[in-house]
Amino acid sequence: MILQVENVQKSFDGFIAVKDVSFSVAKGELCSIIGPNGAGKTTIFNLITGHLPLDKGRVIFNGIDITRRPAHKICRLGLGRSFQRINIFPKLTVFENVQAAVLTHRGQSLNFFTSVQSLFRRETEELLAMVGLQDQRQAVSGSLSYGFQKQLELGIALACEPAMLLLDEPTAGMSARETNATIELIASIARDRDLTLLFTEHDMAVVFSIAERILVLHQGQLIAGGSPDEVRANPVVQDIYFGKARCS
Ligand SMILES: Nc1ncnc2c1ncn2[C@@H]1O[C@H](COP(=O)(O)OP(=O)(O)O)[C@@H](O)[C@H]1O
Ligand SMILES: [Mg+2]
Repeated sequence: MILQVENVQKSFDGFIAVKDVSFSVAKGELCSIIGPNGAGKTTIFNLITGHLPLDKGRVIFNGIDITRRPAHKICRLGLGRSFQRINIFPKLTVFENVQAAVLTHRGQSLNFFTSVQSLFRRETEELLAMVGLQDQRQAVSGSLSYGFQKQLELGIALACEPAMLLLDEPTAGMSARETNATIELIASIARDRDLTLLFTEHDMAVVFSIAERILVLHQGQLIAGGSPDEVRANPVVQDIYFGKARCS
């Protein structure tokens, strides 16, 4: 198992947003967490990656207890993530955003002997090519289309050479065309790099077409998990999650 989440819990002002959640993800697996808005998906990601302190429980990544480690150290260990809301430097160019991420990962700071432009140029170009942003390299990031900004976020997340990526709604706000292109891109990168993926996604068609395993979260608790077929056939999931869809 590359990731083990054990009895993780988090409250906000007495409201239990994540309640005693345990699951694990095998190396190379493509796993999705689904659940209605407010189910606690983003909070779980934040607990795993050290962006929020947890109240209870443990998180083990690659055999290392990362429970109380700061986010940047967890990233260094090879657990990368993207955010539900865009998280880039909008005034920097696409190239500069990815380059900054590579610099941070390599722990290199600028000095008098290095030319900023050439620093990790090859690595940066490789990442841009991987996420399909070569032609946008000089564009100001904040002016990119939403889909391109999400691709840029993916490039930034890949800069830390992750063994596992947590993607929080990677296609949120995208058109159907952008969604399909992005999902294909993510799946092909995952295959090429032997990445383990854990992602949340609101589009059920996407989830059921690419996830190998699906975890279902409801009001902060895991209520089901299994293959897409198992989850689709689960009566509790049908009631809670697909109830509305079946009525419409
Ligand atoms: N920083 C916070 N402070 C207070 N409540 C929060 C905070 N973050 C999330 N919540 C609450 O926790 C619940 C789960 O939120 P979230 O993890 O964002 O759900 P999801 O990503 O599944 O939509 C929601 O009720 C949300 O309002
Ligand atoms: Mg969320």
